[in-house]
Amino acid sequence: MNDTSPTDKPKILIVDDTPTNLNILEEILEENYFISIAQSGTQALSLTEKFMPDLILLDVNMPGIDGFETCRKLKSQKNTHTIPVIFITARAEPEDVIQGFNEGGVDYITKPFNHSEVLARVQTYLKVQQLIRQLESKNDQLKELNELKNKFLGMVSHDMRNYLAAIKGYSQILKEDKEELPEETQDQFLSFIFKSSENMLKMVNDLLDVSVIESGKLQLDLQPESLKSLINHHIMINQFFADKKNICLQSKLPDVPKCRIDSNKIGQVIDNLISNAIKFSESGTTILISLKEQEGKLIFSVKDEGPGISDEDQAKLFQHYQKLSARPTAGESSSGLGLAISKKMIQAHGGCLNVTSQLGSGTTFWFEILLK
Ligand SMILES: Nc1ncnc2c1ncn2[C@@H]1O[C@H](COP(=O)(O)OP(=O)(O)OP(=O)(O)O)[C@@H](O)[C@H]1O
Ligand SMILES: [Mg+2]
Repeated sequence: MNDTSPTDKPKILIVDDTPTNLNILEEILEENYFISIAQSGTQALSLTEKFMPDLILLDVNMPGIDGFETCRKLKSQKNTHTIPVIFITARAEPEDVIQGFNEGGVDYITKPFNHSEVLARVQTYLKVQQLIRQLESKNDQLKELNELKNKFLGMVSHDMRNYLAAIKGYSQILKEDKEELPEETQDQFLSFIFKSSENMLKMVNDLLDVSVIESGKLQLDLQPESLKSLINHHIMINQFFADKKNICLQSKLPDVPKCRIDSNKIGQVIDNLISNAIKFSESGTTILISLKEQEGKLIFSVKDEGPGISDEDQAKLFQHYQKLSARPTAGESSSGLGLAISKKMIQAHGGCLNVTSQLGSGTTFWFEILLK
């Protein structure tokens, strides 16, 4: 038997009760394949379980269980039924050929062996086998993606229904019982309607972003921009929400050169990182927003004193629709799309978005973009 590592070459099991045949086939194949040999059907069955060959060359006429029966057994077992079997026979009478195919064989090789023919047939079926495996693995991936997409659609519809139900419910009460409601309650209901429609609009916009990103059609309008001004603008927008939660926003923003970015897209990322830090932190904490220039890159970071993110959650953080252990601390909306979109937007700029965090010790999200 060849003693090359079985991982380097495709594995072939040759089954024949005649040692001369085994020797000839081994000589033809050993240069390109890892060979294992069996001298009976029973031995072939137990070796197949252990060796898991990519292809089996199987003699038809053998004492004990013959080639056809061996093949039938291989085809009836879950773990061996996909291994292609090529029969070896002295003469290929039509009825033998038909029976061989009926038992699940893929082809015949006749004795005396023709060196090139053996190699050609073996190569062909190994190639077919390899293509089948690739197809199966693609199929599994597609099934997984489809399940993910269904789950995603289910969650989106659920959230949308909640927002719509609130809009419908409160507007109906206002329409039918407005006279009986105190003015303060009417205002409160109007705010609920406004907030729900705002959340829904954000969700629809995020979903549109996801679909543009997924279809590979994300386009950037790159212009030389001041990242510092953009950050200041988004700090200003978020200041109101931070004040409401008694969270202190601190910033360290030195002057840095302009960089070529799509300010809408990068603004969206900055906004998501700052609003996340506010959303998942408790009152009385501080958030530090910084920018620095380092080795031809601009690095933006948001460091909070929030709940931190476990390693397990960090592994899912940048996937779509991940609402993880940390939940908003003041009833803010959360659809779990922001970070997945942010990551893609930063990648589209040739940069990277990352996180460092430990459960219980706050979180730092940061991205870097090349100064070109
Ligand atoms: N600073 C943070 N501290 C702790 N957990 C965080 C932080 N930022 C994000 N997370 C966790 O990661 C999840 C995903 O964040 P992401 O920004 O993608 O979604 P979201 O903020 O929930 O919703 P949205 O789509 O509105 O951004 C959050 O639901 C939260 O559990
Ligand atoms: Mg977010």
